[in-house]
Amino acid sequence: MDRRTLLAGTAGTLATAGLPLSARAARRDAEPSGLLHGLSPRPGLPERLPAEDPSRTLLSHGWLFHEGDIVPPAPQTHDETYTNAKAGNARGAAAMDYDDTDWAQVSVPHDWASAQGFVETANVAQGYRPRGIGWYRRTLRLEPEDRGRKLELHFGAIATAATIWINGSVVARNFSGYNAITIDLTPFARFGDELNVIAIRVDATAMEGWWYEGAGLYRHVWLAKRSPVSIATDGVHCDPRLGSDGRWTVPVSVALESIARAPATATIMVDLLDPTGKVVASARGQAQLQPLGGVEVSLSLPVDNPQRWSIERPTLYTVRVTTDAPGGGDERRIAIGFRTIRFDAQAGFFLNEQPVKLKGVCLHQDHAGVGVAVPDALLAWRLQRMKDTGVNAIRCSHNAQADAFYQLCDRMGFVVMDENRIFNPAPENMAQLEWLVRAHRNHPSIILWSVFNEEPMQGTEAGVEMVRRMAARVHALDDSRPVTAAMNGSFYDPQNVSSVVDVMGFNYYQGDYDKFHALNPAKPSTSSEDTSAFMTRGAYATDRAAHVMSSMDTEAAPWGATHRQAWAEMAKRRFIAGGFVWTGFDYHGEPTPFTWPTIASFFGILDLCGFPKTAYDIHRAHWIDDQPVVGIAPHWTWPGKEGQPVELLVTSNAERVRVVLNGRMIGEQAVDRIMGNAFTVPYVPGTLEAVALKGGREVARAVHETAGAAVALRLTPARRQMLGDNEDVVPVTIDAVDAKGRHVPTENRMTRFTIDGATLIGVGNGDPNSHESEKAPERSLFNGLAQMLVQAGEGRGRGTIVATADGLRPARLVIDRVAATPRAQVEVTPPGAFILGWRRSKSFATAPDPGMTPPVNDNNSWDFTRSGTPAAPESGPSFRLYRAVLPERRRVMAQGGTLSFAQVEGRASVYVDGRQVGAKTDPAAGALVVPVPAGAKGVAVLIEAVPGARSGITGAVRLVPKG
Ligand code: GAL
Repeated sequence: MDRRTLLAGTAGTLATAGLPLSARAARRDAEPSGLLHGLSPRPGLPERLPAEDPSRTLLSHGWLFHEGDIVPPAPQTHDETYTNAKAGNARGAAAMDYDDTDWAQVSVPHDWASAQGFVETANVAQGYRPRGIGWYRRTLRLEPEDRGRKLELHFGAIATAATIWINGSVVARNFSGYNAITIDLTPFARFGDELNVIAIRVDATAMEGWWYEGAGLYRHVWLAKRSPVSIATDGVHCDPRLGSDGRWTVPVSVALESIARAPATATIMVDLLDPTGKVVASARGQAQLQPLGGVEVSLSLPVDNPQRWSIERPTLYTVRVTTDAPGGGDERRIAIGFRTIRFDAQAGFFLNEQPVKLKGVCLHQDHAGVGVAVPDALLAWRLQRMKDTGVNAIRCSHNAQADAFYQLCDRMGFVVMDENRIFNPAPENMAQLEWLVRAHRNHPSIILWSVFNEEPMQGTEAGVEMVRRMAARVHALDDSRPVTAAMNGSFYDPQNVSSVVDVMGFNYYQGDYDKFHALNPAKPSTSSEDTSAFMTRGAYATDRAAHVMSSMDTEAAPWGATHRQAWAEMAKRRFIAGGFVWTGFDYHGEPTPFTWPTIASFFGILDLCGFPKTAYDIHRAHWIDDQPVVGIAPHWTWPGKEGQPVELLVTSNAERVRVVLNGRMIGEQAVDRIMGNAFTVPYVPGTLEAVALKGGREVARAVHETAGAAVALRLTPARRQMLGDNEDVVPVTIDAVDAKGRHVPTENRMTRFTIDGATLIGVGNGDPNSHESEKAPERSLFNGLAQMLVQAGEGRGRGTIVATADGLRPARLVIDRVAATPRAQVEVTPPGAFILGWRRSKSFATAPDPGMTPPVNDNNSWDFTRSGTPAAPESGPSFRLYRAVLPERRRVMAQGGTLSFAQVEGRASVYVDGRQVGAKTDPAAGALVVPVPAGAKGVAVLIEAVPGARSGITGAVRLVPKG
């Protein structure tokens, strides 16, 4: 294959578009270096993550959101105080009948802080974004046939402290923004037209980190409906083991629980499916469950010669657990991988007994434009960017990530250090640690549990006692993976936690690797965090006054090192298992080493949008072994610098590199794979090339061409197709090109977008100093680039994007939307208040006065009835009057609305506050919608029954605000 690499700025990135698929794939393989590389369209569509728990349905839509707190009115009277103390009687915005008609409609994942402006007085570490307090509400309809089912709500995580009410009762108080919350809805549930109300107060003034943490329901929310005897949430443990006899088994333990009213016998079937879906091992068992009891069943699946899971070939099998019991069964499908892991004190990390140097990054979870509400497709794209960088290991700094993250790591082939957030063995925090292990311990990607990051108590007796307890709890739940802690010092103190973890984790302190190792020769070690270098993407000179950091790998935090220095220390020591660069991507907040007006960090190998900095080429040269790479910095558009010397940094994994300017050889050097190769060239506009050589043959080439003035915009999608599943997201790069179609790396113009057939969910440009909105349909280019995140709608179609900028030719891009079945969603309850309680008059042979009302204090001569209840047939003419008070809804009171009767049987006339507003002349069962004027208070319905037929308001009645 032709290993020549084309560079940004050349036609390379877009020229691929018209090629047949196979040629495009080949070009992509050979793709390589420069400003846009890795960002040209990839063929294919994203793989969809399989559902592990088919009992769950996404609950993404139909949420109402109010920004700001709503303090409930304090009870005053004895009656109020008495009722306030009772279940179901929450007050204020948590109350079932709270008027939320003017709240904003939102879908989750939702991070309300990402839409905030930047405020100098707000917290610096959180990126100067006010977070504050917010409320969510959602009504949820459960069908009568859901009675007797185990019903759960699952929140992936909520930032940050959350109180959750179901139907007016508090069901959870959660204090961490990173753990999943499982709520047993079953005892609180209402069915049919009696809707359920979920109310959530989110206090995002609480901080657990020193980085941007977002605000709100920023991960997926699910509704689980299970049979009365069901598999508990996170209740299957099935992590394969290789026995000392060389044989593999999958020990499977299944936690079952029962809400049945009688003792039940459950059958448990466990199958192991190979990657093609063929069953290769099975086991079955039985269990007795007492009402409201639980039981754990252990089975074992022997497997002969399974294919191994590895970073290069992440082969996954599936453990399918099905149960059968009176009332129905349950099922889970859990991806597992057969691999062994081992940390050796002298030789580092071994995967399947092969040494693997950890080429890792630390990751926070946010991205430009969306904050922490990162859709799964964007998460997958971010991880692919890490793969392109040569990364094989990820540290979840400093907290659990979304479910999809671990699934993707399993499928893409990353090893993962999973990390606990709060260092505290008190019951509440221990429960979070237990959740972390229980929820993630089946993932083959996870190789280490980190119980903390940089804790000042790490060198104290109390710190040791705390870690002892936390490590013991981890081991009790998972005996296969070592425990580590990310220490920043104190490791020579007489009492320090390195003595009670399995693997020593160094945060920085690279000068101590050898001394610690000499003192603790039996203790395996890894860098848990390193580097902390600074780069502004696309900038090649530091200007501290302007808060700009050179991307020539010259800048690092005093506690850190440049990308090259840090890796040098790890690469040369076998006993250091590897490292985790702080960080893979820039992130909002922690704008080190600056403060206002800087709002984001400079640490990333890639910027906030995932655009590569020079660190990308540096690490590709360090980490990629299976293809030749070469990179060259800086770009080659320096008008006004003619004749001045320019320092070049050439990075490659080949044997030699040669620099060529306008066809003339400038110099050739033996490759220094770690430190890169420096060349100095007087600036002459034209074509600058770095040629990588192996055995004297060219194996890769990076090219920069001097760009002229920008004349047009260009739009480059990460993919030319998207799934019409309402979820897929395609990042689109915006750049400017000159008259010859060359990328202009110095352009900073404002660009504006219109989008048709898709939704813009965020924008960014990677500038840590920019205060532009991340939600507006416009963005300045920053050193030549900006990004928009485009979300697919549903079904086949096309998304059309037009980008314009003053003085440039606009760009137009069409992304095809391929038909795809959206993941099932819990139905959105139509807005409006249900009117459940009605008074019903006795039957009259002739029409009574519709103004008739039940006498005051007379609870007997009019029935109390509910919508949905028919009146019995009468033999002769029969008229009945129905009355109800309209619930006060601000929007209806102000603008009016409609009353919608799902079903009325008999002829009907509807009156609002005494005035007729509608009628149904056909006596057959049917729907009826009538207008309600502003300020309306009461409704009356006069129904004339057909002799011999039942009659009445036999369906749900909803009061719906206008618009
Ligand atoms: C480390 C810390 C990280 C981040 C980094 C910045 O000490 O663990 O969270 O703050 O410093 O250099």
